[in-house]
This record gives sequence, structure tokens and C-alpha cells, in this order.
Amino acid sequence: MMARRAPAQQNVCMSASALPLIAIDGPSGVGKSTTARRVAEHLGWQYLDTGAMYRAAALAVLRAGVSLEDRAALESLLFGLDLAQEAGRMFLSGEDVSEAIRSQEVTHLVTPVSADARVREVLVKQQRHIGASGRWVVDGRDIGTVVFTNACCKIFLTASPGARAQRRFLELQAKGQLPVLEEVLADLQRRDTADSTRAASPLRKADDAVALDSSDLSLDQVVAWIVARHQAHS
Ligand code: DC
Repeated sequence: MMARRAPAQQNVCMSASALPLIAIDGPSGVGKSTTARRVAEHLGWQYLDTGAMYRAAALAVLRAGVSLEDRAALESLLFGLDLAQEAGRMFLSGEDVSEAIRSQEVTHLVTPVSADARVREVLVKQQRHIGASGRWVVDGRDIGTVVFTNACCKIFLTASPGARAQRRFLELQAKGQLPVLEEVLADLQRRDTADSTRAASPLRKADDAVALDSSDLSLDQVVAWIVARHQAHS
């Protein structure tokens, strides 16, 4: 008996120009990194955390004491910027900086560093080079709108500011810190405004991305939803 052929599906992944890559964009604290890592594990694909790349660039700027106004110094720093990600760890010039890039200093500096058009140009080029072969899950702010506009699956992950602040608050507590919920919320809102109002690649949903509000969903539910969406469209 011959297997019946499934009816052809109308979807972007079937177009010759679509890249087998899942782009996950969204605001700070929505759980993109954990979600993207889990989706990648599930599919046996690789995971690229572009936020960690911007953080590592900010750390390099911080360590070199370069002012973003000093364009020649910034240019030379970017020229020598050696970033790599392996097994979920972020490396800067061969040094594992996975913890260092989460410091308060870096978290503050990464906002102006990631708003710099020249920094973005250099990092976007590296991201495109890494993901060009496909079978990557990539998370960030501009993956579906700028970096991989041809990704076959684009997700715009959101959650209410209150839900995101609550999750971040619990994460910090679990790390033994003593966060104040109002401060966590204010910090998220500051980053939301900075990310979505900057001139260079502001955070926005790609027209062909599907939005998922995860406010009332567990991590497992979000991962399952994205995997199912991807499988239905490939
Ligand atoms: O996801 P994250 O919080 O680690 O990102 C760190 C910063 O980098 C954040 O200010 C937003 C910025 N970013 C960006 O502008 N574009 C990306 N593709 C990823 C992150």
C-alpha cells in the first residue's frame, strides 16, 4: 500500500528562500533565552543568544575604557572583537565571560552599546555568518526584522510587565539576592523603552511573526507551543 501524500501546506518554510531557523524576539525578561535553548534542545538544533553577544561587546567596551563618542577607538575595538558561543557559554577573546556579562555595570552599558548602529552592523554580520547554514534557534530583539528576515519561523514572545517582573524577581531571589519588586519592574520598563524607541533596529514584531503572550503560560507550555508551530510549518 502506498502512503498517502500529505496535502501541500502553504507556508514560508516551503519557499526556496526560507531559512530553517527559528527567530524568537521580544522584550527583556520574557524568558526568550530559556525558551530558545529548550526549543533548540528539543529539535536537536543549535542555539544562539544574541543578547549575550551585545553584553560581551559591552564588556569589551567597559574593559577597554572606550567612549562610544570616540569613533576611532570604537572602530578599532570592533575590528578586534573576538566573540564565540559554545555549549551555552559566552567567550570574549577565548575567555569565558558568561558570568561577567550579567553584572550590573554591563547590564547598564549594554543599552547604549546595543543602540550604536556600528556595533549592530558588526554583530549582525557575525550572527548572519553563524546562522547561515540553518538549524538554529536565535533569540534577540531584531532577529525576525533584520538579522534573519528569511527565517521560516518567527515568534514574538511577550508577557505583561507585571508577569515579567515577577519572574525576574523570583529568579533573583533564587540566586540569593534580595530584590525589590518595584525596582525590578522599573528596570524592565526602562529597558523596554530604550529597546523599542532607539533609532537602530528598534524592538518590534516582524509583520510575518506570530505573537505569543506567555503571561499565563508555563515554560513547558511555551516550548511545546513553539515546537508544534514549527513542526506544523515545516
Ligand atoms: O536579551 P538580553 O537582555 O541579554 O540583551 C542584552 C541587551 O542587548 C538588551 O539591552 C537588548 C540588546 N539586544 C539587542 O539590541 N539586539 C539583540 N538582537 C539582542 C539583544
